[in-house]
Amino acid sequence: MTTPAVTAPLLQVEDLTVQFPTPDGLITVVDHVSFTLDANRVLCIVGESGSGKSVTALSLVGLVQSRGGRVSAGSVKFRGTELVGQPEKALNRIRGRDIGFIFQEPMSSLNPAFTVGDQIAEVVRRHRRAGRKEAWARAVEMLDRVGIASAAQRAKDYPHRFSGGMRQRVMIALALACDPKLLIADEPTTALDVTIQARTLELLKTLQREQDMAVLFITHDLGVVADIADDVVVMYASQVVEHAPVRDLFRRPQHPYTAGLLAAMPQSALENGSPLVGIPGVVPQPHRLPSGCRFHPRCTHAQAGRCTSEPVELRRLDGGLVRCVRSEELRDPAPVPGAPAPIEGVAVQ
Ligand SMILES: Nc1ncnc2c1ncn2[C@@H]1O[C@H](COP(=O)(O)OP(=O)(O)OP(=O)(O)O)[C@@H](O)[C@H]1O
Ligand code: SF4
Ligand SMILES: [Mg+2]
Repeated sequence: MTTPAVTAPLLQVEDLTVQFPTPDGLITVVDHVSFTLDANRVLCIVGESGSGKSVTALSLVGLVQSRGGRVSAGSVKFRGTELVGQPEKALNRIRGRDIGFIFQEPMSSLNPAFTVGDQIAEVVRRHRRAGRKEAWARAVEMLDRVGIASAAQRAKDYPHRFSGGMRQRVMIALALACDPKLLIADEPTTALDVTIQARTLELLKTLQREQDMAVLFITHDLGVVADIADDVVVMYASQVVEHAPVRDLFRRPQHPYTAGLLAAMPQSALENGSPLVGIPGVVPQPHRLPSGCRFHPRCTHAQAGRCTSEPVELRRLDGGLVRCVRSEELRDPAPVPGAPAPIEGVAVQ
């Protein structure tokens, strides 16, 4: 194995493609997804249900195979080392130690038959080769850090003795127990009520700073994105449709889908006094994708021909990437009558 370059990004995902066999044939649920994540940064992946966020996250650390999927193309490099195709044993070492994972369904990751302290201690023993006492002390320390009161005592409790919010804290303690360099958090706060959600986000932000961690945060909630992200990837129907720094994305979304998600935020309606508008229609099923731009059946700006015939490529625009042929003309003021027609932006990959 070659020595990874020192300057390699912490996580580099290129053209990641994931397929599942189904009765309708092979479906592609992650379609040539690319992004990079540097140390200490927070990247959010956002999109409606079924857009491919969780499968993307799971496939980064080799967890999609156990669910029947397959990475059919692309590359995932962690600190310069290729993860796609690594044997399960090697991936197992990386998961939990270098890359922490908080799953969308917290109960499925906690074993009801063991105390939470034992479960955290076991991970520490396995990955850090710590002794029993040391591992238990680390478990208690982590439970304390995530705000579980009387941590030494509560470590001896089983998962069912914890409320939903507390269980999510236990999950965070478990994911961070070995000081990972990258945390992948899939909708870690979605199931929580608003107050506990805000507290959990604060906690994650604090831990991210304290532990110098990068975070890949998956959510469908743009309010959460505004709160936590440095950069944002917007996914629609298995593809990246926009990728931009968080400020740019909120100030000037380049893709009509992103603009639609923003308009559907309760905050936007409150601040602009505008009615809350959802995006009409639903995300298409992977085996029934529309021709041309995959968003065109739901897009109020769609034009027959240029939006409906050829697939739309992801291209650079300003400081980000966008998959829309009309971004420039939609954001720029209408041309003055009689003035020469504007030249459309040239797509650059
Ligand atoms: N095991 C599987 N077999 C077949 N299709 C699957 C499987 N797991 C996921 N999919 C499909 O892959 C697509 C993306 O699913 P994914 O779970 O990544 O969506 P998501 O963006 O995380 O949605 P949500 O916001 O609901 O969590 C969906 O169409 C889903 O039905
Ligand atoms: S390419 Fe056309 S249909 Fe697709 S988002 Fe842009 S304007 Fe809408
Ligand atoms: Mg999901």
